[in-house]
Amino acid sequence: MILSPKTKRLLFLLLFFYVLLLCLIKVESNCKSGCDLAIASYYVWEGSNLTYITNIFTKKLSQILPYNPDIHNPDSSLMGTRIHVPFSCECMNGDFLGHTFTYITQTDDTYDKIARVAFANLTNIYWLQRVNKYDPTRIPDFVPINVTVNCSCGDQHVSKDYGLFSTYPLRPGQNLSSVAAESGVSPELLQSYNPGSDFGAGYGLVFVPAKELGLLLLVSSRNWDVAEEEAMMRREGNCDGEGRAASDRRWLIG
Ligand SMILES: *[C@@H]1O[C@H](CO)[C@@H](O)[C@H](O)[C@H]1NC(C)=O
Ligand SMILES: *[C@@H]1O[C@H](CO)[C@@H](O)[C@H](O)[C@H]1NC(C)=O
Ligand SMILES: *[C@@H]1O[C@H](CO)[C@@H](O)[C@H](O)[C@H]1NC(C)=O
Ligand SMILES: *[C@@H]1O[C@H](CO)[C@@H](O)[C@H](O)[C@H]1NC(C)=O
Ligand SMILES: *[C@@H]1O[C@H](CO)[C@@H](O)[C@H](O)[C@H]1NC(C)=O
Repeated sequence: MILSPKTKRLLFLLLFFYVLLLCLIKVESNCKSGCDLAIASYYVWEGSNLTYITNIFTKKLSQILPYNPDIHNPDSSLMGTRIHVPFSCECMNGDFLGHTFTYITQTDDTYDKIARVAFANLTNIYWLQRVNKYDPTRIPDFVPINVTVNCSCGDQHVSKDYGLFSTYPLRPGQNLSSVAAESGVSPELLQSYNPGSDFGAGYGLVFVPAKELGLLLLVSSRNWDVAEEEAMMRREGNCDGEGRAASDRRWLIG
């Protein structure tokens, strides 16, 4: 069969758009669903307290305390400890797992300050700039802004035994063995849940299986079939570069 150059061009274009569409659909499916429960590990800085933390996350004390069996007296100083704050982990834009909290800006707030102080490094300045419309140098006082915190629902390829994870900001002085000891899981398991993460970096987010809390609450709302599919899609995703740029744009527009 002999095709005219015009038909060839048309066929080529069709093929091109078909491939592009496939790539977009794959990015669309980075995640399909989240899980009902994840934990934010909030490092209590000097001057912070449970009342402040309940306000930041718009939770009641009675919602937070069951996840913190070590707190016997809520009025005692908790400085330097970590508070477990429960939240739901959603599949955002089909792109990543997270949850958006609403924070009311205070006088002289910056994205950096909100990330590092109010939210104790559970998010960072770049992530905040990306999900808010306000110019970083002109953030109005007393307006709601989005604070997106990443989360994890586990990974069947690592282990099926863990369904509850805390979003854990690393701090200076920590390392793989100290975080492993603190969470009661092996360093190898921790590292496999966080491939490429440097636990000794002194900053950055990792996902830590909340083993004790999991046992305590017997919560595991993970649908492993979905996890399996997601992981497969990620492995197959060979049009990542282009697709990701497109999804980034969507995120900025949406
Ligand atoms: C709790 O912390 C907030 C924020 O730092 C502070 O304004 C408040 O006075 C503190 N409350 C108590 C009882 O310490
Ligand atoms: C957040 O990180 C900064 C620098 O990485 C650190 O100085 C600060 O103490 C951290 N905040 C909390 C609450 O851990
Ligand atoms: C949250 O996850 C997104 C997507 O994986 C990533 O680009 C971003 O840097 C993460 N945010 C933080 C604060 O680690
Ligand atoms: C927060 O996110 C929502 C949904 O993406 C968006 O409509 C809203 O404008 C954002 N808020 C700010 C302050 O940018
Ligand atoms: C890891 O950190 C702990 C406590 O912070 C420290 O005692 C230990 O020496 C560190 N281990 C390594 C390998 O750096």
